[in-house]
Amino acid sequence: MPGPVVTSRQDSILLIMIDNPPVNALSREVLAGLDAAMQEAAGSEEIAAAVIFGAGSTFVAGADVRAFPPIARGERPMIDFNATMNRVENLGKPVVAALHGTVLGGGLELAMACHYRIAAPGTTLGQPEVKLGLIPGAGGTQRLPRLAGAGRALEMIALGETIGEREALELGLIDAVASGGLVEEAVEFARRAEKPRRTRDHDAKLVDPEQAESIAALDRDTVAKKFKWQVAPLAALDAVLAACRLPFEEGLATEARLFEECLRGPQAAALIHSFFAERAVTKVAGLKRETAAREIERAAIIGGGTMGRGIACAFLAAGIPVTLYDAEQAAREAAARSIRETLDGLISKGRIKPGSHGTLSIVETMEEAAAGASLAVEAVFEDAAIKRSVFQALDAVTPADCLLASNTSTLDIDELAAATRRPERVVGLHFFSPAHIMRLLEVVRGRETSPETLATALALAKRLRKTAVVSGNRYGFIGNRMFMPYREQAVEIATEGASPALVDQALTNWGMAMGPLAVGDLSGLDVFRLMRREAIRLGFHYEAETFEDILCEQGRTGQKAGAGWYLYDAKRKALPDADLQREIREYAAGRGIPQRVWSCREIRQRTLFALINEGARLLEEGVAERASDLDVVYICGYGFPAWRGGPMHTADVVGLPVILDVLTRLYDEQGPFWRPSELLSECARTGRRIASWTR
Ligand code: 3HC
Repeated sequence: MPGPVVTSRQDSILLIMIDNPPVNALSREVLAGLDAAMQEAAGSEEIAAAVIFGAGSTFVAGADVRAFPPIARGERPMIDFNATMNRVENLGKPVVAALHGTVLGGGLELAMACHYRIAAPGTTLGQPEVKLGLIPGAGGTQRLPRLAGAGRALEMIALGETIGEREALELGLIDAVASGGLVEEAVEFARRAEKPRRTRDHDAKLVDPEQAESIAALDRDTVAKKFKWQVAPLAALDAVLAACRLPFEEGLATEARLFEECLRGPQAAALIHSFFAERAVTKVAGLKRETAAREIERAAIIGGGTMGRGIACAFLAAGIPVTLYDAEQAAREAAARSIRETLDGLISKGRIKPGSHGTLSIVETMEEAAAGASLAVEAVFEDAAIKRSVFQALDAVTPADCLLASNTSTLDIDELAAATRRPERVVGLHFFSPAHIMRLLEVVRGRETSPETLATALALAKRLRKTAVVSGNRYGFIGNRMFMPYREQAVEIATEGASPALVDQALTNWGMAMGPLAVGDLSGLDVFRLMRREAIRLGFHYEAETFEDILCEQGRTGQKAGAGWYLYDAKRKALPDADLQREIREYAAGRGIPQRVWSCREIRQRTLFALINEGARLLEEGVAERASDLDVVYICGYGFPAWRGGPMHTADVVGLPVILDVLTRLYDEQGPFWRPSELLSECARTGRRIASWTR
């Protein structure tokens, strides 16, 4: 079998094709193949020049990240990219890179080690390594400033920005844009090239480091703000500045040291895990690649509240026409206003092009909404009886092949499906608020949901630019099922002596976008109370009453009421409530709840270990297909920092035996809420990573 690098001759030109599907990533074998090709080129007098190109839909999209280990434990083999890059650059004959598709990371570095570059229209170029917690490690931080100028290179490398072939040409990063056959034009280019032009010898575009920062309008604070708590973007900045400060070889050595430090750090392991986890969610058990998805030509949305409006905006922004129905005239008018404002905002921010969005109709009857719809999404109040009646009505008025979806965040999809004569066309589409912004879409597969319906939901998510995660039909699905025990702990800790601000900060200072009590205020404490009561009815071990019941009874249901765990001003800014602390103490005294001093570490252990344990339980029950799906749900929908890899990856980083010890102690002290998951216990016993668990 031929290797991933295949050479052939076109008279005096050596053609070097990289053929390593799916994205021609630089694996050890590809590097070895390139080394052999360089030897072949150097060894034959008949060869005057070489052209490197990629087979299939792209040049090289980066180093093979699968070869980077998931967790930095002990020694590991490192791939020496620079040896190959230097062999290409130091070949005494011209080497032309023919670029198309995505020329990213190690791919762009290989292109820059070549002497000339020609790109097809539509090519994307960049050094996105910071998004994986890395910096370029094959000379990118030293060669890109020499070709594109230090200022733009700094932005591209420290922020991970990509550019198109037109900008690349203007910057001088590439030499030509192909107008016809890419490889043929690269061969012509190679024939005409007189001598090799090494990137390392270009110093004209380097400037002193301060100038480089100011040209790029970048400083450490800007980078640190954009990538809060992340180490790679700052290391990238240092590496690019080293290009301006040091001779090439020394700059390369600085890059190698910083690359190695990032690669060995926990953030790269977490971000690489997140990258592959997001790709894994697209693989769904029992769903064949060839299952045809239905085109959604028009969507009916039932309910003009916050969720209905957000969902309408998400569809409209993707160019899908929407008909929205709400029984209340005031709600219809408010929805029309708010949707138009949101769309105008998206246009003025350049997120959508004027005229590119779908058309909106607001109608007064369900029949009008249903006419011609290929999908109807119900987004009415979270009450099983109300939702059932909406499903019954939709079943009666929508075309027979129309899919029916519920935006429920907890309720039983099978019960809703049973209210219709088309259970195979019923699916849960749980959007997160604001629905036109949040990336996550939980797709709930009911007992009878057909493969075609599921495939349509997944294709729709892609069109809406959302990350879809398929969940089984159990109470709370994946996200809220795990969120409930996490919040329950936060509430308990706040009644056992920690201030609400301390509880929230223990988690936001760890990287969570919001603290759990502040999330309660945002979503509505009454909503969480309903969920808790329903969960208790279904047999989950939650407290029958918590301090949040008192808040709800006083009408302090969160932001919408101006008060909850915090007080809110007119701009919804959270302010501490001095009286609340006294009320909590009285509540605790009345119930004999002891008060104590809490450390942030303890707060994190109690909340995050409850989250992780529930995640492991739902894996045992088969609600999710793989542990990394849970990580995607939390990163894309619940503000979990991607650089911590999600809750299940965090579990492995903390150490499962440590978590098991704490769970076991709390189970002995406090009972069934803390029963350690069998799966987690098993993984702790056998030393298996829980984040890589699949059904
Ligand atoms: N290494 C290994 N596998 C990779 C990969 C990489 N760098 N990039 C993509 N893949 C795999 C994906 O896992 C997926 O595999 P699967 O089909 O088995 O799930 C397949 O390629 C297709 O990827 P996508 O589903 O993401 O396909 P898209 O067409 O949506 O996107 C892409 C293609 C834009 C190339 C996107 O995959 C991407 O952004 N990849 C990462 C690019 C990157 O970060 N490169 C830098 C790597 S680090 C580096 O180069 C270090 C160097 O400086 C030394």
